[in-house]
Amino acid sequence: MREVRLSPSGAFDNVPYPSAHFEVRPLSAAMGAEIVGLRLADLTDEVFADLERALWHHKMLYLRGQNLSHAEHETFAARFGEFGQDAYTHGVPGHTNVQPLIKEADTRSKSLFGSGWHVDSPFLPVPPGVTILRSVEIPPYGGDTAWANTALAFRMLSPAMQQMLRGLKVRMSARNNVYTQKQADGKELSFANEAERAAAIEGMAHPLIRTHPFTGEESLFIDEVYAVAIDGMTEAESRPLIDFLIAHITQHAFTCRLRWEVGMVAMWDNRACLHLAANDYDGFRREMYRVTMAGEVPV
Ligand code: SIN
Repeated sequence: MREVRLSPSGAFDNVPYPSAHFEVRPLSAAMGAEIVGLRLADLTDEVFADLERALWHHKMLYLRGQNLSHAEHETFAARFGEFGQDAYTHGVPGHTNVQPLIKEADTRSKSLFGSGWHVDSPFLPVPPGVTILRSVEIPPYGGDTAWANTALAFRMLSPAMQQMLRGLKVRMSARNNVYTQKQADGKELSFANEAERAAAIEGMAHPLIRTHPFTGEESLFIDEVYAVAIDGMTEAESRPLIDFLIAHITQHAFTCRLRWEVGMVAMWDNRACLHLAANDYDGFRREMYRVTMAGEVPV
C-alpha cells in the first residue's frame, strides 16, 4: 500500500520572529519572511544581531527597496563574518566578493546557473553559510527564486529514518554540474585554476544530517545538483536514497518562492535550505549580484 502524503500538525513553525526593531511577514508556512522597516546599509549592531536571529528562524529573508551599491552590498555582507569562497564566478571590478549573475535577453540555455535544487558550493571543505543576493534588473515575469526548508524536511521524516541518516555522510561533487553546463552551453564552467576544478570534481563527504552551529537545529544536507553518493555505498546503492530525500525536501509544502522586484535583497542560510533559480525568462534580461559568506565545516 502506498501512503498518501501527510503534513503533521505542529511541524510548520514559520511564525513571525518577534523583533522590536522591524516587522516580519512570513512568506509561506514552511519558511521565508519579508522584513519591513529596515535599510540594510544603515543597521546598528543590535539591529543586525536581531536580523541574524530572524534569518536563523526563517532560513530566508528578503527586503524591498534597498537598491544597494556594490560597496553597500559587500559592507552589509561583511557583518556576517568572513567572505566565502565562490567556486565559479569572479567578482566585479573593485569588489571581488560581489559576483555578477547576469543572463542576457538573447541568451538561450537549457541549464541556467543555479537552476537545479542546490546548496551553494557544498563540494568545498568549508561550504558557504549565508548567501546575499540583490536584484538590479528583472524580467517582467519569471526568474523567481525558490527555497526548500531542509530542517523542516528532516523533522517530517520518521524517527527510524532520522536515526539511520544521522550516521551517514554524503559526497558532494561539482561533477554533474560541470557536465550539465557543458552539455547545455558547450562552455566549461570557469574555476580559478585546474587544481580548484579537480578538487571541486573530487568533492567532499559531509554529514548528511548537520547541526546548526547557532541554533542546534538538525537539517538534511543533500541536494539535487551536487550529491553524488553516500559514503561507503556504491553510486547505484546511493541513488534511490538520494532521489527519495531530494523529492522529500523539495515537496511543495516545504518551500517558498520569491517574485523579485528591482532593488530587492534576499539572504538565505545554506545550512538549512536548498534553493533554485527558475530558468523561464528567455527574451528578458536578469541582472543580479551575489555575495557568499564563509560557513564552517559541517558537523
Ligand atoms: C544562486 O543559485 O545563488 C542564484 C539564485 C538566483 O539567481 O535566483
